[in-house]
Amino acid sequence: MNERESLKINTQGHLEIGGADCVALAQAFGTPLYVFDEIYIRKMMGVFRNTLQNRYAGKGKVLYASKAFSCKAIYKIAAQENIGIDVVSGGELYTALQADFPTENICMHGNNKQDYEIGEALDAGVGLIVADAYSEIDKIDAEAKKRGVCQNVLLRINPGIEAHTHAYVQTATTDSKFGFSIQNGEAERVTVYALSKKNVRLLGYHCHIGSQIFEKQSFVLAAEKCMDFAAEMREKHSFTMTTLNLGGGFGVWYTDEDKKLTSEEYAEYIEALIGAVEEKAKTYGMELPYLLLEPGRSIIAEAGITLYTVGAIKDIPNVKKYVAVDGGMFENPRYALYQSKYTPILANRANEKPMETVSIAGKCCESGDIIAVDVSLPKAQAGDILAVFSTGAYNYSMAMNYNRNKIPPCVLVKDGNAEYIVRPQTYEDLVRNDVIPERLQK
Ligand code: LLP
Repeated sequence: MNERESLKINTQGHLEIGGADCVALAQAFGTPLYVFDEIYIRKMMGVFRNTLQNRYAGKGKVLYASKAFSCKAIYKIAAQENIGIDVVSGGELYTALQADFPTENICMHGNNKQDYEIGEALDAGVGLIVADAYSEIDKIDAEAKKRGVCQNVLLRINPGIEAHTHAYVQTATTDSKFGFSIQNGEAERVTVYALSKKNVRLLGYHCHIGSQIFEKQSFVLAAEKCMDFAAEMREKHSFTMTTLNLGGGFGVWYTDEDKKLTSEEYAEYIEALIGAVEEKAKTYGMELPYLLLEPGRSIIAEAGITLYTVGAIKDIPNVKKYVAVDGGMFENPRYALYQSKYTPILANRANEKPMETVSIAGKCCESGDIIAVDVSLPKAQAGDILAVFSTGAYNYSMAMNYNRNKIPPCVLVKDGNAEYIVRPQTYEDLVRNDVIPERLQK
């Protein structure tokens, strides 16, 4: 076990997370259940914050990419850990405001921000907006003018890098819907455009090359390209970049096909980025920019597990054995979307050796409703508690009510105590917005 590990097996042979027995959690809260380890979350926020603080002379801030997991409690933890957040919708912004998150530490993203979202961001007084369209710049300028303010803005630029990850989570290839391409001159054109706006204060650039990336070189290359571009803009347009946001995307462990990075190894990624920025600043004789990083998955994925109860078991001789659980794609759509891999264990018999290869199926009416394919488990029986690791990121945040299944609750554990941070949905919640028009009432 490494020092980030929050999981262990107790004397009863049960899996424990953050000191809480998973079998007891399943009994107390029911299943499916998302469980988050507070200590782990704080530790990872600290790794990013401290590395940036201690190793980078130009100063900066960590912005937790809250699309990975958004709820009021996570924003409270981020504020207490003295990090900022990135929000990508009016809904995430609203949630953060409901948690009294300091608005100057909020960075607003999105590739097609709606007018009302820009208005809401301005009303809230967010510290930064990352613009990703000309029309957004116009809108920010107009809304800022209405309020008699000048809004700090970054431009999302696309350095044209193919990171080694699933195509759906690559965001900096030339054909991406995100960002203004450096290569085709758009990034330069939009710089000039933003500089012409009176109520827009252009501070610099943002780039995010994708997600679940382990290659240090891809991050370094992106940082270098941003610095090269900033130097070019200084040269050509006398624009001095004072803030550079290098996004998130650091990989996490899902299965043993992935590296399991230690805190020091995560710190090395950040140091590599810092090194690239410092090196280029020196080459070009530039001031070091204020640096922003936006880790999402690396902060929250391994902090979370999901607990299920095993139900139907279907053995198709010589073909496949399915172990069905009481969850599925409605609470973890990542296999259906990206063929993602996960590692499950039986939480109530955690010391038992794996005996067979099975696939974990959900309860939705969909063949692709799978949680994990061809995984090793002890012989599972109905009533066993199955735990799936590394589900803290992009599970609850992408959950849905398909088949009118209820989105499971989230609990936060610390020192063996567990509390709701998101309460369970009820059937009443499912029909809350349903309307039967008068003419159908007969
Ligand atoms: N910053 C920006 C601008 C982003 O677009 C993202 C992720 C992040 C930061 C955080 O990236 P992270 O550190 O979490 O890798 N639903 C997909 C992931 C989509 C990520 C979108 N953007 C999944 O489940 O894998």
